[in-house]
Amino acid sequence: MDSLEQLVASAVQDFMAAQDDAAALENAKAKYLGKTGQITELMKGLGKLDPEQRKAQGALINAAKGQIEAALTARRDALADAQMQTRLNAEAIDVSLPGRGRAGGGLHPVMRTWERVEEIFRSIGFDVADGPEIENDWTNFTALNSPENHPARSMQDTFYIEGDDSDGKPLLLRTHTSPMQVRYARSHTPPIKVIAPGRTYRVDSDATHSPMFHQVEGLWIAEDISFADLKGVYLNFVKAFFETDDLQVRFRPSYFPFTEPSAEIDIAFGSGPLKGRWLEVSGSGQVHPSVVRNFGLDPERFIGFAFGSGLERLTMLRYGISDLRLFYEGDLRFLKQFN
Ligand code: DAH
Repeated sequence: MDSLEQLVASAVQDFMAAQDDAAALENAKAKYLGKTGQITELMKGLGKLDPEQRKAQGALINAAKGQIEAALTARRDALADAQMQTRLNAEAIDVSLPGRGRAGGGLHPVMRTWERVEEIFRSIGFDVADGPEIENDWTNFTALNSPENHPARSMQDTFYIEGDDSDGKPLLLRTHTSPMQVRYARSHTPPIKVIAPGRTYRVDSDATHSPMFHQVEGLWIAEDISFADLKGVYLNFVKAFFETDDLQVRFRPSYFPFTEPSAEIDIAFGSGPLKGRWLEVSGSGQVHPSVVRNFGLDPERFIGFAFGSGLERLTMLRYGISDLRLFYEGDLRFLKQFN
């Protein structure tokens, strides 16, 4: 009796000791119920007893066997439950978490300006052109009246590229969008009315200069385009761009090799944080006759204006940004404010 109770107790203990690995439980089962298991051995021993004892002892052994089997089943179920629970925990989906979809992107403020400028000029009949950032020396400088060794070139120091183009002209990163005047005019016939926004490069870096920046070039050449048209077009443009008529625009005499006369365009806001201050937004002028000749056109017949404005500059004025470097740091706290 005692020994049967102990047997059941030790089986239960062995079953409990079997952890999540099924083999351990099966081994424990074999120890009691297998072919040479302890219960099986006890059963075999019954044959040696007389019928009375056999009956009584058999009943006791059977009862013990039933208890062991019940304990085994219970342990099996418990292990299976535990395994299921572990799996459920591992595969749990937290439906309250935000989805992993792609976050909505937004346009960089300078790109917003770029698109806006295109939209405004298209609305008054300007074509929009695009051209290479790797430009040859002739188109970037010489055709625009800056001959080799001319001091005006040093104001636009740039990055030169090893090797020449197919005509043997040295290659560089364009210092302004003005070479697009030459490219566009040489491949179209007047009237020429175009803007060319794009990236430009100079060896420059401080709060208001970056080695890469953006400009938009404008060119209108026909038989009768005057400085007055430049004033009208540009004034209209800035009014549309800044969404206010409360602006003053001033043309301040200046020098550029490719225009004569030349002017820098300043604007002053009538209200807002920049009220009353004159700010330079663009270079401009009447296209120099030599440049018109380099367009492949007769300067006695064709005349017009050009301008080149900084897209960063326009963006800074529109949003009241004081440091140009913010545009290039990729800081989302800054960039998100525009979207
Ligand atoms: N290309 C000049 C610059 O980057 C700006 C400029 C001045 C462009 C006068 C023009 C112009 O088209 O007429 O400084």
